Amino acid sequence: MDYLVIARKYRPQTFTEVTGQEVVARTLTNAIKSQRVAHAYLFTGPRGVGKTSMARILAKALCCETGPTTEPCGVCQHCRMITDSGHPDVAEIDAARYNGVDAIRELSDNASFSPTLARFRIYILDEVHMLSTSAWNALLKLLEEPPAHVRFIFATTEVEKVLPTVLSRCQRFDFRSIDLDAIVKRLREICVKEQVQLTDAVLYRIARAAGGGMRDAQTLLDQLIAVCDGEVIEEDLNLLLGAARGGDLDLVVNDLLSGNASAAIETLDRIVAGGVAPTTFLEQLIDHARTVLLVQACGRESPAVRRLGTCTPALEAQAKLATPEKTMRTCQILIGSQLALRQGADPRLQLELSFVRIAGLGQLLDADTLLRRIERLESAPAGASAPHPR
Ligand SMILES: Nc1ncnc2c1ncn2[C@@H]1O[C@H](COP(=O)(O)OP(=O)(O)O)[C@@H](O)[C@H]1O
Ligand SMILES: [Mg+2]
Ligand SMILES: [Zn+2]
Repeated sequence: MDYLVIARKYRPQTFTEVTGQEVVARTLTNAIKSQRVAHAYLFTGPRGVGKTSMARILAKALCCETGPTTEPCGVCQHCRMITDSGHPDVAEIDAARYNGVDAIRELSDNASFSPTLARFRIYILDEVHMLSTSAWNALLKLLEEPPAHVRFIFATTEVEKVLPTVLSRCQRFDFRSIDLDAIVKRLREICVKEQVQLTDAVLYRIARAAGGGMRDAQTLLDQLIAVCDGEVIEEDLNLLLGAARGGDLDLVVNDLLSGNASAAIETLDRIVAGGVAPTTFLEQLIDHARTVLLVQACGRESPAVRRLGTCTPALEAQAKLATPEKTMRTCQILIGSQLALRQGADPRLQLELSFVRIAGLGQLLDADTLLRRIERLESAPAGASAPHPR
């Protein structure tokens, strides 16, 4: 069999297989059951969350030999041709490439003919926000009075660029970015089928790096399997994500905890010179500090910790060394830097500033010590001189 990238090999083929878009799936299956399928749908949402997959499933549901059905069989000629993007009555048009009025005129001319094989002629227009205004105008007439056998499924990542006149003629579905656990669950299923073993910590990191996109997560998984041939270790993933090595991260954190800003900045120099983007390193630091905090708050075996990564011996030692108060303030400082970056601050400068501030935390008194001192002062007998601070 030809090699197929994971993201394509594991494209969902039925409504129930589309992870995280249950509302859309349910509304569509209800429409099919009650024979109220609209003439035009608009699927919007971030990239790689199932828009094209859902469009093809809907096309199969409508065209399947056993259909219209909510459970397309997957094996009849229609289902197979749609899966392979080769059905004569189901056109998939990438509007980013064919965005001109000519392509749409041709489409409109064809649309009036009866379908050749199936019950419907279905037009799936991807990245539809890229269509030129004149192309839209040519399409609008068809959208207003489509022949009974025509169905449109538009998909776009940028719905705000779609004309209001078009929006008002479509049923709109907003696809959501997919939550972490759902992505990990799917990746785990794929790993079983591909016979690779990855730890939950690695899967969660892949899912988080993908930021809610299933395709991005699967592409990362694919690359990781390709580079590691055999056993995957976290360092492979660091390399793939352009992140610092775990050992370097620990080095910096240990220096910061022991109040040595200068050593931490020196290591930072080396890390950045090695090609790691300062913003990436800041994200790693935040994740790391967050893990330390969760180890302190929930224990190293807690699910919250496992989702973030493994608790290495180095990290456990850091969790013992720093007070929870200090870890929390470290998190706050790092997150403050991240906010500053979003407002355009210089990443390198922000890292240095936060290093100096975190390293200085050791010299500040933590809240517990302060509280104890105040209590001692308050409980001192009236008239007695204040106890000497110790
Ligand atoms: N909701 C989802 N559930 C399962 N797999 C998904 C989902 N969304 C995306 N994928 C995976 O990503 C690939 C691309 O998805 P696609 O439907 O083309 O995304 P979009 O059109 O939203 O950019 C699919 O082949 C599939 O492997
Ligand atoms: Mg798509
Ligand atoms: Zn079928």
